[in-house]
Amino acid sequence: MGSTFVYKADPARGLQWAEVFRREAPEIDFRIWPDIGDPQRVHYLAAWEPPRDLAQRFPHLKLLFSSGAGVDQFDFSVLPARLPVVRMVEPGIIRGMVEYVMHAVLDLHRDMPQYRRAQQRGQWQPLPVRTAAERRVGVLGLGSLGQAVLQQLSAFGFDCAGWSRSRHVIERVRCLAGATQLDEFLSHCQILVCLLPLTEETRGFLDAARLQRLPAGASLVQVGRGPQLVLPDLLAALDSGHLAEAVLDVTEPEPLPASHPLWSHPRVRITPHIASMTQPVSAARVVIDNLRRFGRGEAPLGLVDRVRGY
Ligand code: GLV
Repeated sequence: MGSTFVYKADPARGLQWAEVFRREAPEIDFRIWPDIGDPQRVHYLAAWEPPRDLAQRFPHLKLLFSSGAGVDQFDFSVLPARLPVVRMVEPGIIRGMVEYVMHAVLDLHRDMPQYRRAQQRGQWQPLPVRTAAERRVGVLGLGSLGQAVLQQLSAFGFDCAGWSRSRHVIERVRCLAGATQLDEFLSHCQILVCLLPLTEETRGFLDAARLQRLPAGASLVQVGRGPQLVLPDLLAALDSGHLAEAVLDVTEPEPLPASHPLWSHPRVRITPHIASMTQPVSAARVVIDNLRRFGRGEAPLGLVDRVRGY
């Protein structure tokens, strides 16, 4: 009996996945939700939001893929405990994030927010040009996205640090780990990039106390998940002058209500959760590769540790 793979996310992008599966894994019956065929044959599911009755609907499911980088949108309490869950780790989503963060960091580093404001006032006002080596940048979260971002930041010559729960080693990056080194990390960051996964531990992580640990005049690039940043604390830190600028791609809630004061804050830039997106062709290839790994009895790349939450 053959295997069915069900894709349950944006259908237009699903068509691109279907094309890759047709060419590169024709033995798999690839289907786009709600056209699921025989539910008994569904062994694999890629979803942004799995159906709540997943266990009853697909009794023979062997693997669940998130169609995005995060898995915080999954309610693990309704997923069978034995079902392996796989995050999306694919080159397209990584490249997109590197582009977004480099754009934001270079913009901040080269004082572009000040120049935009000076232009509005019609003021020709040069500021000293600092080298990247003189700018201390830090990345919170050293998963595949955080590591790729740090590689590019260090290639530009920034003075880079990274922080994560567990110890990592990354060339030309000062890697700090765990609660005991968090303050030391934060005090390094003239530009802080947040790329943490959303877990119970990282909800509300960037609060008044932690923002206060950043050097005076620091800036924030938030590309993790909205609930990690306490927005009233961010506003207070900006308004006190402790924080210079903030670039937010994620907020809580999303969308940010039109009346929210951050929209019109002169030192905040907001984008609507577009920093990066799964690219259908490269994602489908990574998923096919993972199906083959799984078939050989190997662990899929991006396997989620349910206790850790990512
Ligand atoms: C987007 O935020 C994703 O998780 O892919």
